[in-house]
Amino acid sequence: MPETASADGVSDADRPDVLILGAGPGGYVAAIRCSQLGLKTAIVEKEPALGGTCLRVGCIPSKALLESSHLFEEASHAFEGHGIIVDQLKLNLDQMMQRKNKVVKQLTQGVAGLMKKNKVEVLHGTASFNDDRSVTVRGEAGERTLHARNVVIATGSKVTDLPGIDMSLSRVDTSTEALTYEAVPRKLILIGGGVIGLELGSVWRRLGAEVVVLEYLDRILPGMDAELAKEAKKFFEKQGITFKLGTKVTGIEQFTEGQTEQVRVTVEGGEPVVGDRALVAIGRRPNTDGLNLEAVGIETNKKGQIPIDGATLRTPAWSDPDDGGVGIYAIGDVVEGPMLAHKAEEEGVAVAELIATGHGHVAYDHVPAVVYTDPEIASAGKTEEELKEAGTAYSKGKFPLLANGRALAIDAATGFVKILADKETDRILGCHIIARGAGDLIQEVVAGMQFGASAEDIARTCHAHPTLSESVKEAALAVDGRALHV
Ligand code: NAI
Repeated sequence: MPETASADGVSDADRPDVLILGAGPGGYVAAIRCSQLGLKTAIVEKEPALGGTCLRVGCIPSKALLESSHLFEEASHAFEGHGIIVDQLKLNLDQMMQRKNKVVKQLTQGVAGLMKKNKVEVLHGTASFNDDRSVTVRGEAGERTLHARNVVIATGSKVTDLPGIDMSLSRVDTSTEALTYEAVPRKLILIGGGVIGLELGSVWRRLGAEVVVLEYLDRILPGMDAELAKEAKKFFEKQGITFKLGTKVTGIEQFTEGQTEQVRVTVEGGEPVVGDRALVAIGRRPNTDGLNLEAVGIETNKKGQIPIDGATLRTPAWSDPDDGGVGIYAIGDVVEGPMLAHKAEEEGVAVAELIATGHGHVAYDHVPAVVYTDPEIASAGKTEEELKEAGTAYSKGKFPLLANGRALAIDAATGFVKILADKETDRILGCHIIARGAGDLIQEVVAGMQFGASAEDIARTCHAHPTLSESVKEAALAVDGRALHV
């Protein structure tokens, strides 16, 4: 088909309605929704595979390894109690990694398929703004400059380095390396007791590593409900993870002892910790590398985030009133809010709808957060600490999994469900669960919160028996002091 070019010499192909920078869960979902809404859409990705951190080196590969290592641990310790005897259990780490890689490949190729199906043009390369309202993409295929009507920045985040620590040392790792170890570390030192530390620490502990967590604060999982985090720490300790809280890491050195490479992690006011690998998981920060934001006058804040108007997801750039909706938007980990794939996806849908129709919305108040350990840890809405600080009067309903029949039958009778509701109106304000499958259990409460449900609404909803979800109903009943099975 002959390409048409306008008076300024820009071809139609180089003038998409929307150009999305980054093909992670925020970017690729935005691309699909834009296409559904009839917008001509192109997406830029610097990596060969689509899917971003989540699909390539984050959520998906870690969940694959969490499942494999869980099965290995079950076979090592739990099968016997069920009357199943496994002789000579062995670990084939190479096969475990191959399976993980296959899952990742299937999903990243799936995203490429979705782009094709939705007629989204995929450009491989690094995008950079120019000061004439264009974006140049530089990649192996050369250079191409596009004049999009709207640009969505969805370039995600990258690992935060530890100041003063040389991350190039071969035994000082980020989560990316910890997903590809060729052998089980003898002793893994985790710096940071957050989500990544606990998930990957669980994987390697289950496969045989000694795991020590060095956490700066006096608690793990900062930001999550404190009672939940305290209970989680007890479980992890029982499983064999050691925690050193209130520990500030000051340096890491690598040395050789005999034939083996080791790391020595120095901490303020305490003995150094020696192991054979250190994994730095102290958070992530927005990735705006190479975007040349100066060209469009965008200044990132102290956290490196791109400032946006929360209701429109729009940056201050290209915002003169005559533009009629033309603008630069930003979503996902590059903007404020939790760095979660599903929050980015919600923003991806909203930004497409905002661009196409002027209307779009994200329910920020109840974005769930899940830690995929065993038991799983899930939170949505307000924590008790937040409610106390805001002076909100609330009722609390808590139900232990120990009193749930299904939990007993499947060896998962640990943890609890906690529901927090407004004291006066009974409207659900928060839910915090530590239990097998907590990430799925919390979803009915999140749906309830979306519809403004009261605890009574959940309590009067028939839950199938025997299911773990009955403990959610019981916690809702407990808000009014009338749980049935405790
Ligand atoms: P995080 O923010 O969850 O935890 C980092 C931890 O490191 C905090 O507890 C912090 O107090 C501690 N810390 C900071 N500086 C330290 C220092 N110098 N020494 C010792 N401890 C220090 O960050 P994490 O685990 O790196 O995860 C990054 C992001 O990825 C998070 O935003 C998380 O939400 C997301 N993520 C989400 C997952 C999920 O939804 N299941 C899984 C993995 C990551």
